[in-house]
Amino acid sequence: MPKDKIQQLKDLKEQAKLGGGQQRIDDQHKKGKLTARERIDLLLDKNSFVETDMLVEHRSHDFGLEKQKFLGDGVVTGSGTIEGRLVFVFSQDFTVFGGSLSEAHAEKICKIMDRAMKVGAPVIGLNDSGGARIQEGVVSLGGYADIFLRNTLASGVVPQISAVMGPCAGGAVYSPAITDFVFMVKNTSYMYVTGPNVVKTVTHETVTHEELGGAVTHATKSGVAHFACENEVDCILRIRKLFSFIPSNNMDDPPIKLTQDDPNRREEKLNTIIPDNPNKPYDIKDVIHLIVDDSDFFEVHELYAQNIIVGFARIGGYSVGIIANQPAVLAGVLDNDSSIKGARFVRFCDAFNIPLVVFEDVPGFLPGTEQEWRGIIKNGAKLLYAFCEATVPKITVITRKAYGGAYDVMNSKHIRGDFNFGWPTAEIAVMGPKGAVEIIFKKEIEKAKDKEVAIQKKEEDFKEKFANPYIAAARGYLDDVIEPSETRLHLYRGLKILENKVDLNPKKKHGNIPL
Ligand code: HXC
Repeated sequence: MPKDKIQQLKDLKEQAKLGGGQQRIDDQHKKGKLTARERIDLLLDKNSFVETDMLVEHRSHDFGLEKQKFLGDGVVTGSGTIEGRLVFVFSQDFTVFGGSLSEAHAEKICKIMDRAMKVGAPVIGLNDSGGARIQEGVVSLGGYADIFLRNTLASGVVPQISAVMGPCAGGAVYSPAITDFVFMVKNTSYMYVTGPNVVKTVTHETVTHEELGGAVTHATKSGVAHFACENEVDCILRIRKLFSFIPSNNMDDPPIKLTQDDPNRREEKLNTIIPDNPNKPYDIKDVIHLIVDDSDFFEVHELYAQNIIVGFARIGGYSVGIIANQPAVLAGVLDNDSSIKGARFVRFCDAFNIPLVVFEDVPGFLPGTEQEWRGIIKNGAKLLYAFCEATVPKITVITRKAYGGAYDVMNSKHIRGDFNFGWPTAEIAVMGPKGAVEIIFKKEIEKAKDKEVAIQKKEEDFKEKFANPYIAAARGYLDDVIEPSETRLHLYRGLKILENKVDLNPKKKHGNIPL
């Protein structure tokens, strides 16, 4: 082959690597942002990236675009590995037309999504884009819709992870929103349907980009973002960590990671972790850290609805999804946000064969007009539905309270909990002792000479009868009452027994979860 042909190829590829040119790369760095290619280099195992469509160009002839062509057209696509496992990736290049999405740009993304579906590998999208390429009009909108369709069809088949590392506005937000996990970077990324200027015009509110749709806003207020990362490196390292817990597709099992941490390890501290006073809080994360392998708990949605804790860990090497009521926040009560947060996580784990481990200490659903009017009935039902339909191994440990409907919801035996354990401190009842005696002994209390003494006596009787795990254990609603220090061993044995569990739901097109 003539040497100049080889040189031409090399030149083209070098040119493609420069995206929108050195000046724009420098501008990107000045904003504290990495380039599309630098992000991929950090994300994937060294030298594993196989790029496709490096030489694609847009096909637009309007607004002088025909004179401005950049190889790759604003998105770098391909596949590579993370800890040796195949993954597909697209990384939008802000140096080319602000990473805006053209027809060709969308086709590149769709191509790797289609390939990921065929081979059963996750898709990671690194978003940094001014949205639809304005000069391309409806063609660009069509490109977005092509991606949304693929996001939806891939949902529950291959894991999809989005990192928002720059602007993400208008309808463009809906691709990350359909994916399983959204990572954002503090101060440099934002997501909103309309930006601060439109907000000012329509609602007369004055708000900054960060307040309206920054990482902290979406991680704390809206729940759109699962992770608010300190910077881009933190973001990418956290994606890699998340990846280590999840399988490549819905037919695969999550990776088992061997550990030096003995599955039989007793943890004496757990025997005294529940305070004597049942109204005193404790931090359920302390319980989780004491139980899981190497104390390594990867929390998801850490800043949102903190009265429920969700995240990934391992027990004896098995990857598990943990859902735990958090007595340290709002007494661990279930409300609208925590129900939605829990339900979404349960459904992800169920879709991807990740066993569920539940730590339960819940006084019930939060009462009040605010909760009722926002739909605690339908939102609580989401969590209930999610646990009911889940067919992965499901293990519950009741550490303290399991009151009312929340007892049923939090993976009770009745909704196909495989192993249900109670600590001796478990209290399983329709409601707490105070509320209960005030209802069932109302007349007696009214007649009593000293009402306070009467209430106290009845409460003690009630606690004696119900505030323990033994009635549930006697009926087989609990498989066992266990010493807290041995919880890790019981969970490990349960996971091992359930390793080949098969359970099926009735055949249907799809259920109708109360959205
Ligand atoms: C074409 C775009 C573009 C776009 C940015 N650029 N957005 N080109 N279409 N949507 C170009 C700019 O012209 C500029 O090119 C370069 O990218 C960098 O943009 P700057 O404005 O200089 O950068 P910055 O100041 O950092 O601001 C970034 C920005 C802003 C906030 C994203 O560019 C912006 O507001 N863009 C428009 C956002 C928008 O409204 N998009 C449509 C959303 S609606 P030069 O050559 O000058 O460097 C949508 C619908 C999707 O996306 C619907 C799906 C259903």
